[in-house]
Amino acid sequence: MTCAAYGKVGRVTDAPTLPDLVHPANSPDSPWWRDAVIYQIYPRSWSDSDGDGIGDLPGITARLPYLRDLGVDAVWLSPFYVSPMNDAGYDVADYRDIDPRFGTLHDAEVLIDTAHALGLKVLVDLVPNHTSSEHEWFRAALAAEPGSPERARYIFRDGAGPHGDLPPNNWRSVFGGRGWSRVPDPDGTPGQWYLHIFDTTQPDVNWENEEVRAEYDDILRFWLDRGVDGFRVDVAHGLVKDQTFPDTTGSMHTAENAPGHRMPMWDQDGVHDIYRRWRRILDEYTVPGDPDSERILCAEAWVQPEEALARYVRPDEMHQAFNFEFLDTRWDPAGYRHVITESYRSNDAVGAPTTWVLSNHDVLRHATRLAVVQEGYRPNGIGADDPQPDPELGLRRARAATTMMLALPGGAYVYQGEELGLPEHTTMPDEWRQDPIFHRTKGTDEFALGRDGCRVPMAWAKDEPSLGFGPSAKTWLPQPEAYAALAVDQQDGVPGSTLSLYRDLLAYRRKHRFGHGALAWHELDGPETLAFTNTSGDGTRTVLCLTNFGDEPVSLPDGDVIISSGPLDDGRVPTDITVWLRLPTGHDR
Ligand code: NOJ
Ligand code: MG
Repeated sequence: MTCAAYGKVGRVTDAPTLPDLVHPANSPDSPWWRDAVIYQIYPRSWSDSDGDGIGDLPGITARLPYLRDLGVDAVWLSPFYVSPMNDAGYDVADYRDIDPRFGTLHDAEVLIDTAHALGLKVLVDLVPNHTSSEHEWFRAALAAEPGSPERARYIFRDGAGPHGDLPPNNWRSVFGGRGWSRVPDPDGTPGQWYLHIFDTTQPDVNWENEEVRAEYDDILRFWLDRGVDGFRVDVAHGLVKDQTFPDTTGSMHTAENAPGHRMPMWDQDGVHDIYRRWRRILDEYTVPGDPDSERILCAEAWVQPEEALARYVRPDEMHQAFNFEFLDTRWDPAGYRHVITESYRSNDAVGAPTTWVLSNHDVLRHATRLAVVQEGYRPNGIGADDPQPDPELGLRRARAATTMMLALPGGAYVYQGEELGLPEHTTMPDEWRQDPIFHRTKGTDEFALGRDGCRVPMAWAKDEPSLGFGPSAKTWLPQPEAYAALAVDQQDGVPGSTLSLYRDLLAYRRKHRFGHGALAWHELDGPETLAFTNTSGDGTRTVLCLTNFGDEPVSLPDGDVIISSGPLDDGRVPTDITVWLRLPTGHDR
């Protein structure tokens, strides 16, 4: 191992040693995105202005001051474009307009301007791997002949077998079932097959085609011209396919199923040319001498190992990539120590900031996930018939995990509602479920409940209809009972509430530029604790962040407790609690 700190995994320190520096400090003048905390809004579920039970852009704009007060730097909006909503908007029919359920283009412009006036940056979602089957390009492709320029924008192939009635290869869909569907020729006879790595209504776009590249360049400019500060890039590791389209074995959920065995639809080298091209476009929008004007790209790329992910954030490519290895880590100090060390090692090697994330709209909320004890791949949804994770344990660990995450230098992503400690909806009746994963896998070996449980509308006010989500009682997914007591109005200004914890963490982190700080393992780091110091970007203070994963309370060294994820036990840190402790001046680690 090249990094000295890595050797510390599991080591019990029995002699005083110099702490291991894992990550050096950044200049406090670095551009905004290197330490930004970005709040993910799932537009359908954050705030509904018109009472139709579906969140919308005017609803979001009205509540933006809440985010300023929370203390985040930016918002990322999941897709709000025209869409049949077969995959909750990740099936885009028109990239240059807003779905009427969410509002209008004018509403988007007002949202962006209002956010900017409040000091918040805005990232939008870009979905370049596939369009909706209702996109005008796909309609034109279906109406055109095989071999036509219209079909060349997608991945159409003749079928296998004497009559072409078998799919061109054995690729699966991430959502279950076949990755290919057959379409009729314009004359109605059975024709070619098209590739869809996700739902059948999400045909994959052909990135070998220059017309496609030019179109997405133009879409980027369309939104940059409207003032967006960046893009979260959906399925960033999927755009380029191995052009030999080989049969493959292995899980569609993992880019590299065994060392060196990369799946032919994931993480192909050619994707990086696309991001270099996009970076040049974004850089045209930077005002010379004003790092605050920089626009960014963040990769949603489920690739391993960390080095492969770091290739997406080389200096001439994207700015950030989601750290899903961190999100996927189980409640275990050795696992966190490993992923933290490796993340800094690989990102520092390319000069990129590391990002941190615990929840999003695709995974079990961490207030539930961290109480799931079963082994194996994380479950995709929990239903009423499944063992129910302990909500108190989940919340306790979630608060500890977030307190740890926000002490780490780099950027961080926060998913709507986690600042309230919202759990997953784990008893949602099946008739509500909308995720295509549920519908595509039902009755098969691949069966999964899907992601609806983490997408439930927000809880703003305990005693209002739809918990204040909108003016009516309607919600597109049902809110679980537990949400009422966790509503914003129940936590606002209440010491010790999860909302107050998030506000305190974010305020302290921002004030002392901990996102630009230096990270070192501390001598209290051990088999049952995770303990590191962050020496702030402004160089004025060193904070020890300690999480206790063991059964016995842990004593702290001299210093002032600044924030704790839960009550201490006579000055000691109990199980599943994280503490920030300011070390006495002069202690430079
Ligand atoms: C990743 C998105 O986060 C997810 O919600 C979506 O289903 C897939 N990409 C396909 O676009
Ligand atoms: Mg609405």
